Amino acid sequence: MRKPFVAGNWKMNTDSHTSVELVKAIASRTSEAARRSVHVAVCPPFVYLQNVVNALRKSGVAVGAQDIYYEKEGAFTGEISSSMLKDIGCTYVLCGHSERRHVIGESDELINKKTAAAILGGLLPIFCVGELIEERKASKTEEVVTRQVKKGLAGLSAEKVSAVTVAYEPVWAIGTGLTATPQQAQEVHALIRKLLGQMYDAKLAEEIRILYGGSVKPNNAAELMHQQDIDGLLVGGASLNADDFVAIIQAAM
Ligand code: PGA
Repeated sequence: MRKPFVAGNWKMNTDSHTSVELVKAIASRTSEAARRSVHVAVCPPFVYLQNVVNALRKSGVAVGAQDIYYEKEGAFTGEISSSMLKDIGCTYVLCGHSERRHVIGESDELINKKTAAAILGGLLPIFCVGELIEERKASKTEEVVTRQVKKGLAGLSAEKVSAVTVAYEPVWAIGTGLTATPQQAQEVHALIRKLLGQMYDAKLAEEIRILYGGSVKPNNAAELMHQQDIDGLLVGGASLNADDFVAIIQAAM
């Protein structure tokens, strides 16, 4: 059985005060039952990670970073390694988020190196894929997502990939209020699961979690979660509001 997983991606939002207030509110309003049945994580900006880790001790809510660099240490000005994130208490890291692919310009090859480095450093990557609106309109969703999965996980053994959570986030649904329909999302999730079965084996494909992301809100979370291959949700905007994020966690139970 795949345990549901809800992760909040705060992107470049909050400050030193509101980041801690937000996680305190999330931790205190999440029911005991939800804590037991859903994995929950938040991904704050780098500079607030340590405070958030401290505020969440013993809460059961895990912390993730939004990015890493693939080298272990050395002359890489401005970068952060997986061992540094592990050192301060992070569990997860986002790799290949669409804003890093399309705003910052990260390639499949770079994302592959980051994903591999995250696993090597003991972090659990949340590996994101998804097509642009032009690609969907040109019926290229399958081709694009297949390429992103194959290149992003290239060279990783089944054992390593078992540390990965995949997130399908259609780029046209991120921050736009345009959610993929549960059927559209399910179709791509099933495709990703089938592909992982071909690349690795049936056991891995059955066990790996595939999250949906893109304008997830309290009013659409339950319906998305009812789909067979949707195992959780990666939430952007709605994760910045404690009531909304907690309602989404409850809907994922
Ligand atoms: P959104 O962002 O929920 O604001 O659409 C999702 C994401 O980018 O992970």
